[in-house]
Amino acid sequence: MADDKLFSKFSINNLTLKNRIGVAPMTRMSAGPDSIPRQDVLDFLIRRAENGAAVVYTEAIVTDYESAQGYPGQSRILNRQQIEAWKTVNDAIRQAGSISIMQMFHCGRMAWPEVNPAQRVIAPSAVTPTQDNPLTQAPYPVPEVINHFEIQHVITGFVETAKGAVAAGFDGIEIHGAHGYLISQFLSGYSNKRTDEYGGSVANRYRFAHELIQAVRPVVPDNLLLTFRISNWGVADMEVSLFDSRQEYQEIIGYLDNEPIDAISVSTYNFKEKAFGTDRNMAQLTREVTTKPIMICGQIHDRASGEEALRDADIVLSAKSILLNPDWVEDVRAGRELPLHASEDANIAYTDEPLP
Ligand SMILES: Cc1cc2nc3c(=O)[nH]c(=O)nc-3n(C[C@H](O)[C@H](O)[C@H](O)COP(=O)(O)O)c2cc1C
Repeated sequence: MADDKLFSKFSINNLTLKNRIGVAPMTRMSAGPDSIPRQDVLDFLIRRAENGAAVVYTEAIVTDYESAQGYPGQSRILNRQQIEAWKTVNDAIRQAGSISIMQMFHCGRMAWPEVNPAQRVIAPSAVTPTQDNPLTQAPYPVPEVINHFEIQHVITGFVETAKGAVAAGFDGIEIHGAHGYLISQFLSGYSNKRTDEYGGSVANRYRFAHELIQAVRPVVPDNLLLTFRISNWGVADMEVSLFDSRQEYQEIIGYLDNEPIDAISVSTYNFKEKAFGTDRNMAQLTREVTTKPIMICGQIHDRASGEEALRDADIVLSAKSILLNPDWVEDVRAGRELPLHASEDANIAYTDEPLP
């Protein structure tokens, strides 16, 4: 049947997914000073696997104690307690026949210095987003320009976090290059005004991502996945197109296509939207220049939208729908009528209320 792709198997690297549905990475801001998420937040992930999602992403995990944290209550996988906490989650997800992927991130200029143990704010260039931080209602602080020593230091944080994730038994690791955070800040001319080898041309702006991927891959065993998330939008100044043109975006996807990564996750606000003034959506523009597996998300809320998204991608990720409905995968399978949620509906993710 043409319309059965959502519940067909998919092989990626040497893993076989039981279907094409994943839980998108979702920051929950629930961790205490130990940088371990609240138990009900961890249980939520396990339940989503038990209820049918083939792939379960973690929230964005912070890669150091220095400058990476951008929100209160974020977590880390750098010490033994943190590794043990996630090991239990990963065992349960595997038991459910699903795979777990740890997403790691550095906030860069999207910083909230008070929540960062060392209160550093570093970014490719000393420019802030134009909008205020919606959580503090204050302007984002002007970042210090990251220097070559710090670039290596930040990369080390990603490598150490990847090692933690391997020790914790994750099936995959994702480098968060989307949404206007540090890696995305390097990729985009909107935030990268550097004149050294990390700025200027697209190839130069891509250099940081390249060095990061090259440093991380050797600590991720071949049988585990390494994925990269990219977007053309950032969580601040959302209306800004992070890439100037289709050519610019596709040049970067072309570079990613040459990297030792197993999939590219394309984050959109609405997967159907045409991009860069073309008649093609982001997944289609990505597919034109890579043969790697593609994950897509953005308003995939029912069976029809899931099947439509899979015309141009291999895996669909859901954030809001799967956050708010524990039975979402089964409801999709049954073809039930399902709501398209507004962004505000997801605010419950940041409360103390345990989600079903
Ligand atoms: C509560 C919440 C937290 C999120 N946190 C992250 C995150 O940590 N990392 C990330 O890459 N995307 C994050 N996102 C974005 C989602 O992964 C997804 O790309 C976006 O919500 C669009 O998908 P949707 O329409 O299914 O909600 C978050 C979204 C929500 C709703």
